[in-house]
Amino acid sequence: MSRNWPESVGIRAIEVLFPSQYVDQTELEQFDGASAGKYTIGLGQSKMGFCSDREDVNSLCLTVVARLLERHHIKHTEIGRLEVGTETIVDKSKSVKSVLMQLFAASGNTDIEGIDTTNACYGGTAALFNAINWIESSSWDGRYALAVCADIAVYAKGAARPTGGAGAIAMLVGPHAPLQLERGLRATHMEHAYDFYKPDLSSEYPTVDGKLSIQCYLSALDTCYRLYRQKFEKQQPQQSQLGLQNFDAIIFHTPFCKLVQKSVGRLSFNDFLLCSEQERAEKFAGLERFNAATLEGSYFDRDVEKAFLTQSAELFANKTKKSLLLANQVGNMYTPSVYSGLVSLLISEPASQLVGKRIGVFSYGSGLAASMYSIKVTQDASVFEKFVSKLDYVLPLLNAREKVAPEQFSELMEVREKNNHAAPYTPTGSISALFPGTYYLKDVDALHRRSYERTPSNISNGVH
Ligand code: HMG
Repeated sequence: MSRNWPESVGIRAIEVLFPSQYVDQTELEQFDGASAGKYTIGLGQSKMGFCSDREDVNSLCLTVVARLLERHHIKHTEIGRLEVGTETIVDKSKSVKSVLMQLFAASGNTDIEGIDTTNACYGGTAALFNAINWIESSSWDGRYALAVCADIAVYAKGAARPTGGAGAIAMLVGPHAPLQLERGLRATHMEHAYDFYKPDLSSEYPTVDGKLSIQCYLSALDTCYRLYRQKFEKQQPQQSQLGLQNFDAIIFHTPFCKLVQKSVGRLSFNDFLLCSEQERAEKFAGLERFNAATLEGSYFDRDVEKAFLTQSAELFANKTKKSLLLANQVGNMYTPSVYSGLVSLLISEPASQLVGKRIGVFSYGSGLAASMYSIKVTQDASVFEKFVSKLDYVLPLLNAREKVAPEQFSELMEVREKNNHAAPYTPTGSISALFPGTYYLKDVDALHRRSYERTPSNISNGVH
């Protein structure tokens, strides 16, 4: 039987979750003895969300999936595929996906394909691509897919600790979506690197070479952007050469906000190197001294960085800054990070301004795996406005979080560290500090079996 591809496959609904508690980065600078401004200005971070021992990757995924299905009135039987992307591994065999099947038990729907995918922060994008691919394949049975990503990003005491965070995203994937992934416009770069990895299976903390990780991130960005440009130009030869002007917004995986600002400068530097002499004179006047600069030689070249940061400042302000809201307020969520950027953009821009627009997406996971692709926003303004209005809860919830002193944050990190993989174990973290409708770890029995409960719902605040 031949069947046409379903039209406009993409994201039909999106749900975000972040921790109910945070530590202030200015206070953390003082507590850590870092120079004033290092975390807030140097890294561009204001607050860092964190989870006590009451939450783990399973509970984050249970909460975000339950919320998405409830708030969007999706029946459990309407889901035919569920993919999870995470790097927060609590079991080397049993998947998070299998834990999520508890939510579907009452409906009797066990016919749900998909399983977990892991590669650092890239797993969420792999989950999304798998979900899209299924719907565009001969295996599709007409139901929706769910792409879920969640992580708890924690670092040992030291330079990397302020770049932690936590969160989860669930995306309902199907045809006729308000956010459509553009076909044929995916550019991927994968390579073997030891920039950030988790070889100690008994610890939540990664082994990280900070400087190398930044170089890997920027070089993967260069490669993906150049490949995306080639694919775009091949697919749309009638358009003028692709450059940053072809994106109405660009979102990035965000380990810390300052790196994203530098990344916009980096893309501008790529445009500079690739454009014609005439364009160079028009668009990049005054930057002729960099005509002989190279990508490889410039990862830590302060002159190149500064010049293109300045040159791209307006682009950054217009196309990317708004997408950094959650990253600035919560920190690095790992796999959900780039999708929290999407949510931030959607809630910060009047919906009418994004109708019919193209959003560039750069996803990066250490180790390394990276992709650049683009999302086209539907032309149907009323469909899009309805889609965005479902995110009305995000700002009030962000403002309802509880600030915790760095001393207490540090103690809670020690509790996580000491009891990682302990069994039997009963968590001690506060349940009343959690948002309504949050799944939490009740206990771990002597056989390492985890059980969860949920805080009461509160429909009035839109999150239940
Ligand atoms: P560090 O080496 O201690 O920091 O750690 P630094 O000394 O480089 O300072 C950071 C910035 O603050 C610098 O800015 C300083 O100048 C500035 P830059 O010069 O680079 O523009 N600074 C100040 N600014 C204002 N006032 C002050 C001040 N003091 C200094 N008083 C590092 C930084 C990011 C390396 C560390 O936090 C780390 O290792 N983090 C984890 C790794 C990471 O986030 N890497 C990013 C790319 S890899 C990635 O994205 C993947 C990842 O998400 C994992 C995954 O895929 O799963 C991490």
